[in-house]
Amino acid sequence: MIDLHCHILPGIDDGPDDLEGSLAMAREHVARGTGVVVATPHVGWDYPNTPEVIEAGVAEVNAALRAEGIELEVLAGAEVALTRAVDMSAEQLAGLRLGDGPWLLLEAPISVDSPGIEGLVGIVQSRGVRVLLAHPERCASFHTDPGLLERLVAAGCLAQVTAGALTGFFGRTVQGAARRYVDAGLIHVVASDAHDDAHRAPGMSAPMEEAGYGPLAPWMGADVPRALLDGVPVPPRPAFAPRPARRRRF
Ligand SMILES: [Fe+2]
Repeated sequence: MIDLHCHILPGIDDGPDDLEGSLAMAREHVARGTGVVVATPHVGWDYPNTPEVIEAGVAEVNAALRAEGIELEVLAGAEVALTRAVDMSAEQLAGLRLGDGPWLLLEAPISVDSPGIEGLVGIVQSRGVRVLLAHPERCASFHTDPGLLERLVAAGCLAQVTAGALTGFFGRTVQGAARRYVDAGLIHVVASDAHDDAHRAPGMSAPMEEAGYGPLAPWMGADVPRALLDGVPVPPRPAFAPRPARRRRF
């Protein structure tokens, strides 16, 4: 599996505080079947990370992984806040893409309903990057405007769901949105959005399986991520009939 959204670099955002924390996450990734992780630290007004800072973090983590014999490859990327991205030049945005591919992981505001998102995303697209929307199921604007994701996908965006959202980690509203989007074919990538090795931990296959989406896991968690990193067309989604998730009793 290839995880396109993970806060694994130490000390530069709300991910692990130190290298030991990064290595603990890496061990969890490997244990849960992930072989490639794109490091996506926040880039926004709160976290003014630059490509140089991110590259240095990736080099540090990869050196430690090799020293520890951990079979994980970390690539450079970023999770860029939409409100920050619109103020960046084409050159700045290009430096924050996922791996060496053409895609930028873009995060809409989580808790604030922001009218005008389509226009802002269009501005970012016009600067030469392709847009992978980070976890729209968690963003307020997508809840208040049910057609927003479909319009953005029609405009060339792809969308990433967070694995834990499908199993209810972020609550029922987010879970319901996540399932509706996947069922409607509006989600192309599953990622962990892990921040540590325990609470918001790595892993995509098990939550996909638990949520009843196991047959889509290889496509959303490996085939599409590889295509995005390679800059080639997204392979067609396998035939899949949604079935009810396993019910949890409280
Ligand atoms: Fe994230």
